[in-house]
Amino acid sequence: MVISTTRTDAGESLNSTFASRYVCTSLPRFKLPERPTPRDAAYQIINDELMLDGNPRLNLASFVTTWMEPECDKLMMEAVNKNYVDMDEYPVTTELQNRCVNMIAHLFNAPIGEDEIAVGVGTVGSSEAIMLAGLAFKRKWQNKRKAEGKPYDKPNIVTGANVQVCWEKFARYFEVELKEVKLSEGFYVMDPVKAVELVDENTICVAAILGSTLTGEFEDVKLLNELLLKKNKETGWDTPIHVDAASGGFIAPFLYPDLEWDFRLPLVKSINVSGHKYGLVYAGVGWVVWRSKEDLPEELIFHINYLGTDQPTFTLNFSKGSSQIIAQYYQFIRLGFEGYKNIMENCRENAKALKEGLEKTGKFEIVSKDIGLDGLFLHTPCQPMPNTLLSFGW
Ligand SMILES: Cc1ncc(COP(=O)(O)O)c(C=O)c1O
Repeated sequence: MVISTTRTDAGESLNSTFASRYVCTSLPRFKLPERPTPRDAAYQIINDELMLDGNPRLNLASFVTTWMEPECDKLMMEAVNKNYVDMDEYPVTTELQNRCVNMIAHLFNAPIGEDEIAVGVGTVGSSEAIMLAGLAFKRKWQNKRKAEGKPYDKPNIVTGANVQVCWEKFARYFEVELKEVKLSEGFYVMDPVKAVELVDENTICVAAILGSTLTGEFEDVKLLNELLLKKNKETGWDTPIHVDAASGGFIAPFLYPDLEWDFRLPLVKSINVSGHKYGLVYAGVGWVVWRSKEDLPEELIFHINYLGTDQPTFTLNFSKGSSQIIAQYYQFIRLGFEGYKNIMENCRENAKALKEGLEKTGKFEIVSKDIGLDGLFLHTPCQPMPNTLLSFGW
């Protein structure tokens, strides 16, 4: 294709970018410009403006990964034009997603038989994963209530008041009452005893957090499971547990392998984890896995066959990029269990040093407990120099 240029455009290309008219006149801020901008000028203008953003490598206020190996950056750029949803066109990308789901399910001790495959899906982040898990619980509860001839219009969900905002979003968007366990001075996570007291026949699930957004502390999922099993037995209800392991899902298996928080506990029916946090992938990937096929109601799965074969999907959006899925697979095979363990141990050491330094100043009170994201609030894992930050009194 030949693109004709006007005399003015041709003259412009002789000027350096900063001497051209494109950087002398303003671009309209909110309206589409009348005319095109040469690519070098467009690049320069945007690049310069973006310099006012913070530097992601110095961002201690995020949990999200800010550095990956150049080989992975290359793979991601090579896949940047692949729409993940075209599964018939890009079956290998779909296969990589399925491998990731299975690896995560095994890591979380899902009871998967030798010939079985895990049930789960890649999402844009933990928020989408939580919406999907919440919907599955709501639908399962509704189906059961309908079958029993009981009202099913007042579902509720029990969480700690420390839940991340996405749970409030889920509750509001999908019309589920959020029953929050109040926090108290010195105790900043959900108390399992109080949580189980709030459970009633309309509770679709109790959501526990593995790695509270506020302090990094792990909630006691094992105790919650025990107390809920007892209450279910007494009442005849069947209230399940979801674990929001957005941060802790890629910490606990490596630093606390004996801690029982996952599918080893019978009431844990689904778990979400952010690939872009301690899964060590750039922003844009999360995961949700279910204990078994029975925990994901079939009617929530959409079957699309736009490109030929049947593709079952359970996501909130349709199109999305493939790069993050590929990057997650890269990290899994590149690091393996040992690599993740080493990185999490490094994070722990950095956080410990930072904690001690802050304590020595005498100006901060460390409120994070010794169990959690290693008792410290580790943010933004990067390799090979993880950024770490402590959470202190507010
Ligand atoms: C406990 C918890 N759940 C959910 C989320 C939302 O995760 P995402 O940003 O992956 O959507 C976060 C994010 O900080 C979180 O800390």
